[in-house]
Amino acid sequence: MRIDILSLFPGYFKGPFDESIIGQARKKGLLDIHLVNIRDYTVDRHHRVDDRPYGGGPGMVMMAEPIIKALESVATPQARIIYASPQGKPLNASKCRELAAYAHLVILCGHYEGIDERVLESGVVHEEISIGDYVLTNGCLPAIVIIDAVVRFIPGILGHAQAANQDSFSQEASSEDSFEHPMLDCPHYTRPEVYAGKAVPAVLISGNHQKIKEWRHAAALANTKLKRPDLLHTEDC
Ligand SMILES: C[S@@+](CC[C@H](N)C(=O)[O-])C[C@H]1O[C@@H](n2cnc3c(N)ncnc32)[C@H](O)[C@@H]1O
Repeated sequence: MRIDILSLFPGYFKGPFDESIIGQARKKGLLDIHLVNIRDYTVDRHHRVDDRPYGGGPGMVMMAEPIIKALESVATPQARIIYASPQGKPLNASKCRELAAYAHLVILCGHYEGIDERVLESGVVHEEISIGDYVLTNGCLPAIVIIDAVVRFIPGILGHAQAANQDSFSQEASSEDSFEHPMLDCPHYTRPEVYAGKAVPAVLISGNHQKIKEWRHAAALANTKLKRPDLLHTEDC
């Protein structure tokens, strides 16, 4: 997958994309991440990217033209163009799985009061995505969150092919292990077998794969009932 991130602060992305699973995926050539500085697409000699809002009020608004020019510089016919925005649809596992199927994502990060509305009115952005009902100072952290959550669903990025589909909220409706509702993951244990007087549940060391599967299903359900009972009453994951 190719990902272009348009922002005013490319420096934000140093680190998160160099480490761990994303860093390895980039080295393997599974992810090709490009940083675009919107300031490089300004049209005046002072390289202004923002101005005061019409109608008055606090803050600054990112100007439309540099954003549109920056988007045009990276857009391809197959690109899915996303604006990270608190006003967007909430990011969830099914949206991540859907976005993972695109060969090219473009993520626009706002700053200040946001972007001139005419960028959205132009139709160049396909969708707005929010990472939660709160407001951050700019779209760089949301872009990192969106990318991290999406790329886990690209085959080959996680060590085990099914790993992403077994995590909380992520059970696939079509999978033979699917649950009726999105659920939390089951508890996990690793060595030692006994720690601080507490033993690992015996079934997990029984070697009986059918019993382990049943235990995990029951434990995931119990976990969900305890921590997120709301999930058991919703159709939307
Ligand atoms: C200070 S916010 C602008 C908020 C805007 N005035 C509003 O109230 O909807 C600046 C930028 O941060 C990003 N941002 C802030 N919170 C976000 C969230 N919850 N999800 C996604 N992006 C967010 C967006 O790119 C936004 O343009």
